[in-house]
Amino acid sequence: MPTVLVTGGAGFIGSNFVRLLHQERPHWQVVNLDLLTYAGNAENLADLAGDPRYIFVHGDVADWDAVTSLFARHAIDRVVHFAAETHVDRSILDPGVFVRTNVVGTYTLIEAAREAWHRDGGYGETRFLHVSTDEVYGSLAAGDPPTTEHSPYAPSSPYAASKAAADWLVRSYVRTYGFPALITNCSNNYGPYQFPEKLIPLVLCQALEGKPIPIYGRGDNVRDWLFVTDHCRAALTVLEEGTAGETYNIGAGEERTNLDLVHRLLGILGELRPELGDLTRLITFVPDRPGHDFRYALNTEKITRTLGWRPRVSLAQGLRRTIAWYLEHQDWLNRVRTGEYRRFLEQQYHGRTK
Ligand code: NAD
Ligand code: TYD
Repeated sequence: MPTVLVTGGAGFIGSNFVRLLHQERPHWQVVNLDLLTYAGNAENLADLAGDPRYIFVHGDVADWDAVTSLFARHAIDRVVHFAAETHVDRSILDPGVFVRTNVVGTYTLIEAAREAWHRDGGYGETRFLHVSTDEVYGSLAAGDPPTTEHSPYAPSSPYAASKAAADWLVRSYVRTYGFPALITNCSNNYGPYQFPEKLIPLVLCQALEGKPIPIYGRGDNVRDWLFVTDHCRAALTVLEEGTAGETYNIGAGEERTNLDLVHRLLGILGELRPELGDLTRLITFVPDRPGHDFRYALNTEKITRTLGWRPRVSLAQGLRRTIAWYLEHQDWLNRVRTGEYRRFLEQQYHGRTK
């Protein structure tokens, strides 16, 4: 039975990925290592508690003793590394924790994996998937071609720079030690369980509460939006079928300006909840994010051509599904907004999970 260590599995993409594994790889053992920072929410996978194929471990990817003891206790032969500090605005305010988690945490994991897999007789069937972002490539101008896996790195924010540093460490392990890593660089995700500091859930929260919706600058920055389950399927495909040592871009080909995206969101929400009135009145232009990247766009020919992956959910479908989920899970949203979800952590896990 394969045993996969998923890091950051209580976060947005990680929890969707663990759920996908639970449904589609029922014979896999999943160990979820998560520090449950403000972005981690143990409630996201509360229904899996008690399942013998799912083990939750409350711990830090940058803690050498915690990580090596996991490799000693479990026969881990696959790692999918999602754990990270992920919000660009927070990285501008407090870069240190991004360096610690994203750079030192990734080093700790790959070194612990390398050591454990060597001790156990070599790499064999082992695989390490390092989950990264399109932000490492930096900003594109309006007419630039989308970035390929060979485009140079040019990170702008401390977040992007910490992810780029981690990517290069992983690449160095591939080159120097033949470490069986794969890297994915993905565009902006959206969907259920996203923490409401990121644009889409933030807009929904503010609109539901009749509060201002902050648009940075003129709202003309462009992002490519991928529904989260499409990212999770791509990650699983790369883990199982990708060539070790390779990098794969993952994107939707759904580029939109922020203002256009917000108008679409408010249009759908307004249809579903007409009593909220004219939601566009809430749009408020605020000073731009320092160093704000203008545009990200990815060339995803490689993953489509070599692994046959392509997104299944269009932006129009994905936005409707996302809005419907947040409307049906306003209790989740309220517990996150009020900090109530932290109390669940105390009750469920404190002192019992190490
Ligand atoms: P998230 O912020 O929702 O979740 C991060 C998770 O990591 C949380 O559960 C948190 O508790 C955990 N974590 C943080 N520090 C930790 C530490 N030191 N040790 C253990 N766990 C820790 O993030 P997300 O949006 O789900 O992103 C997951 C990964 O995907 C990240 O590596 C991110 O760079 C990458 N990514 C995200 C996007 C996106 O649009 N969200 C796009 C491309 C790539
Ligand atoms: P975000 O969801 O933070 O993702 P990223 O910065 O990683 O792309 O932001 C998406 C886009 O939305 C980005 O161009 C910044 C912009 N934005 C706003 O205009 N207002 C906001 O309140 C937030 C959080 C983001």
